[in-house]
Amino acid sequence: MGELSGSRGVGPRAPQETSEEAFLSLGDLEEAASRKVAPAFWNYVQGGAAEEITLRDNRAAFHRRTLRPRVLVDVTELDPTTTILGNAVRAPYFVCPTAYHGSIHPDAEMGTARAASAAGILAAFSTLSSASLEEIAAAAPAGPRWFQLYLQPEFSATRRLVERAVGAGYSAIVLTVDLPVLANRDRQAHGGFALAAWPPLGNGADISAPARGFGTLEDHFTLRPDTGVGWEIIDRLRALSDLPIVVKGILTADDASRAVEHGARAVIVSNHGGRQLDGAPASLDALPEVVAAVGSRAEVYLDGGVRRGSDIVMALGLGARAVGIGRPILWGLGAEGERGVRRVLSLLMTDLLTTMALTGRRRISEIDASVLGPMRPT
Ligand SMILES: Cc1cc2nc3c(=O)[nH]c(=O)nc-3n(C[C@H](O)[C@H](O)[C@H](O)COP(=O)(O)O)c2cc1C
Repeated sequence: MGELSGSRGVGPRAPQETSEEAFLSLGDLEEAASRKVAPAFWNYVQGGAAEEITLRDNRAAFHRRTLRPRVLVDVTELDPTTTILGNAVRAPYFVCPTAYHGSIHPDAEMGTARAASAAGILAAFSTLSSASLEEIAAAAPAGPRWFQLYLQPEFSATRRLVERAVGAGYSAIVLTVDLPVLANRDRQAHGGFALAAWPPLGNGADISAPARGFGTLEDHFTLRPDTGVGWEIIDRLRALSDLPIVVKGILTADDASRAVEHGARAVIVSNHGGRQLDGAPASLDALPEVVAAVGSRAEVYLDGGVRRGSDIVMALGLGARAVGIGRPILWGLGAEGERGVRRVLSLLMTDLLTTMALTGRRRISEIDASVLGPMRPT
């Protein structure tokens, strides 16, 4: 059953499944993608760690919150634009880095990059992309785009990746820190995502194919490089280029403070979409303590379970500057390639504008803590 199934409207399915207009909600794209993407890979996309408690809680956390409407505000003109680390963007959400877009649709990361850039949306691309980071940049030269870094066993390879990202016009390095080892992912394992099935990677010789080590935990401990890495890695990375460092995978005030003390310009409150530490808090629940610790010194973003305009407004009300969208981008890509990603981004935009109107917020700077009501009674 899909994450969003049950939330779609009732009524007959639109006859032309391949038409954009058939996709009235993200759940429609999820369902279309579930039929088109190879089952083993679909389990990889949809699954989380272990019992998927954290995966489910990422959504449930939004359901526990309430929004306070504000009526009789002139909402004729709504402005969802903002900046993310100085990049002007058309909305306060961005495309999360996710691996292997080429296994979802032949448009691969180029389709995602074109769709995001055309929509004026920031997109982050994974070290484990199917296309090379240069091909992705060439597909949508205007960006804006960030490069997500997984550390390589040799620092020289890490350095080359950063240099390539600088050369290809990426405007930040997103260092993912919540994957020193790969979690046990039961659904993925049972779904048959075997070692042999790991798809080809686009970034060439600089990638030590860490994914090849994802077959068993033993392989993983031997092949993954970053089990022995500490906070000084941020200092080392900062010395490589002028690009700002965004640390992704922070869930506590302590870790957020450390990241910022080491020079991170932003942190992403994230549990990797419930794919790493099962039992970790929902991203939305972890957000307030991180904002309290570093919100005045760094930008704070959130990802995990963001599916609706109301989710975006809740996260912004709790102090996030922007939110990341993970799986829904892959649903769009799986459903219709680049066009499906465009559809996901435009559905989110419509939904965000609707929520802004209903909460009487005409621009992003008007979304503050007063937009949140009490927790929903259980
Ligand atoms: C299929 C898949 C692949 C992912 N690959 C990466 C990756 O390569 N690097 C990374 O930092 N995060 C990766 N993530 C995590 C996302 O960046 C993001 O944190 C998460 O998907 C957000 O939650 P959501 O899917 O509920 O929106 C991946 C997530 C998924 C679902």
